[in-house]
Amino acid sequence: MSRYAAFVLLLSFGLVFRLSHGIEVNVTDGGKLCLYANLTLSFSVSYEIAEKESKTVVFEIPESASSKDSKCDDTSPILMLSFGEGHSWSMNFTTKDKSYQADVITFTYNLNDSSVFPDSLANGTVTVTAKPDITNVDMDTCYSCKSKDEIQASAEVNMTLSDVLIQAFVVDGSRSQNLTTCAADTPTPAPTPTPTPTHNVTNATTVAPTTNASTTAVPPTTPAPTLPTPATGNYSIKSGVNGTACLLANFGLRIGFKQNEKYQEVNFEPPSEASGSCGVNRSELVLVSNDITVKLTFANDTKKFRLQAVNVNISTSSGVFVQSNNNLSLWEATVGSSYMCNKEQNFTITPLLSFYTFSLHVQPFDVKNGLYSTAEECFLDSDLSFLVPIAVGVALSFLIILVLISYLIGRRKSRTGYQSV
Ligand SMILES: *[C@@H]1O[C@H](CO)[C@@H](O)[C@H](O)[C@H]1NC(C)=O
Ligand SMILES: *[C@@H]1O[C@H](CO)[C@@H](O)[C@H](O)[C@H]1NC(C)=O
Ligand SMILES: *[C@@H]1O[C@H](CO)[C@@H](O)[C@H](O)[C@H]1NC(C)=O
Ligand SMILES: *[C@@H]1O[C@H](CO)[C@@H](O)[C@H](O)[C@H]1NC(C)=O
Ligand SMILES: *[C@@H]1O[C@H](CO)[C@@H](O)[C@H](O)[C@H]1NC(C)=O
Ligand SMILES: *[C@@H]1O[C@H](CO)[C@@H](O)[C@H](O)[C@H]1NC(C)=O
Ligand SMILES: *[C@@H]1O[C@H](CO)[C@@H](O)[C@H](O)[C@H]1NC(C)=O
Ligand SMILES: *[C@@H]1O[C@H](CO)[C@@H](O)[C@H](O)[C@H]1NC(C)=O
Ligand SMILES: *[C@@H]1O[C@H](CO)[C@@H](O)[C@H](O)[C@H]1NC(C)=O
Repeated sequence: MSRYAAFVLLLSFGLVFRLSHGIEVNVTDGGKLCLYANLTLSFSVSYEIAEKESKTVVFEIPESASSKDSKCDDTSPILMLSFGEGHSWSMNFTTKDKSYQADVITFTYNLNDSSVFPDSLANGTVTVTAKPDITNVDMDTCYSCKSKDEIQASAEVNMTLSDVLIQAFVVDGSRSQNLTTCAADTPTPAPTPTPTPTHNVTNATTVAPTTNASTTAVPPTTPAPTLPTPATGNYSIKSGVNGTACLLANFGLRIGFKQNEKYQEVNFEPPSEASGSCGVNRSELVLVSNDITVKLTFANDTKKFRLQAVNVNISTSSGVFVQSNNNLSLWEATVGSSYMCNKEQNFTITPLLSFYTFSLHVQPFDVKNGLYSTAEECFLDSDLSFLVPIAVGVALSFLIILVLISYLIGRRKSRTGYQSV
């Protein structure tokens, strides 16, 4: 009934939509049902079709998606749906006390599939992860959520889940009739319209599935293999035909990335040439070296500049690794000065991508005479950072003196007290 109403509503807006079908999955183990899912899932993916031109496609997971790579076990079952030419979507579950939860959604899409991504500039697969909002589902119940859950997995990928009925850890081969209903489905007395739960990129941390620790290393916890310090590149972008430099950058860069569950670090070999552009509000630096392309986009927010976006594209033997974050605030300094950090710094660009910088110095705006202006140094470099232990020491001695004084005063008071008796 409500579907029919929605359909009429859409038609009345002149929109032609295919009604969502949803997909039903019965994962069995030894002939017995062990994981059940019935859900409607659609994707909105934007991808580059030309320099600075992107296209957004919206598609639904087809009913023909295969669940043959799903697996059941007592601790960490996985619902894995593969479809089309090399696309897959998975959700894995773990237990906690007397409930279970979905830990991470992993969506891999293949830009080579021109039937889904026509005219894509990049080829290769892209993997994004997101944290689903499916927690505290009572054991032996189905999780039910009719409401739409919009999940923003990255700047390029949104997923919409609706009409979800899932049971992980099915016992005795039959689905439970008892439900754990999501909060969005429960009408609240509050006058505000029920918000659809949203997740943004910052929430999309990769949650290590609790399978085998050795196979699920997460970048910051992996001890870095001992690579030499990367060579420092000197880059400059000139404005006009034979104009002067308008963007200057020097740095050594090591890139940590996780592809197909494997974390690795590589030193970026500085190319001799850099390309890019300078603008009033945006400047860009593009570095291409061997199999790695790094694009850094700087923003001028009136008084300050910052590194706003990072796009990285790495070709490896196992495919093309593509990650980007367009909402960063790194390397900040006043417009008219430069940003400097000689000490090693690390930055988590996305859950799958980290940068380690060495001898960093950049000025993306307002370069005069091709030279760096006054540098604003990072805290690690600053002369003040050595003051921290001194400050702590001073504060401690002050505290001791204070205690001593109050002790002396206290003794005096109590002595006068005895005298008055
Ligand atoms: C994802 O959703 C956000 C917020 O609704 C929107 O701004 C963005 O354009 C969407 N991205 C895609 C690729 O659809
Ligand atoms: C991917 O791109 C490379 C170079 O850009 C090209 O040589 C190769 O044929 C492409 N592969 C596919 C499957 O389109
Ligand atoms: C459903 O819940 C009721 C009450 O909590 C319980 O008695 C019953 O055994 C449950 N049924 C199943 C199939 O778990
Ligand atoms: C986990 O590790 C154990 C041994 O430590 C091994 O037997 C098992 O196959 C591994 N499981 C997976 C999923 O890698
Ligand atoms: C990243 O930097 C912090 C200090 O800023 C340091 O404590 C941490 O160990 C570094 N992580 C790695 C993986 O180098
Ligand atoms: C650019 O350089 C060429 C030769 O080096 C010179 O002839 C020309 O005048 C220069 N143009 C400008 C705008 O300086
Ligand atoms: C930075 O942006 C402000 C405001 O958009 C503008 O007035 C200023 O000229 C810009 N600075 C540079 C160096 O482009
Ligand atoms: C730069 O940003 C300012 C304010 O944000 C805007 O008024 C101006 O048009 C922008 N300039 C360019 C060249 O985009
Ligand atoms: C960008 O990041 C800021 C804070 O880091 C956050 O408030 C904002 O919502 C983010 N925007 C998007 C589109 O993710």
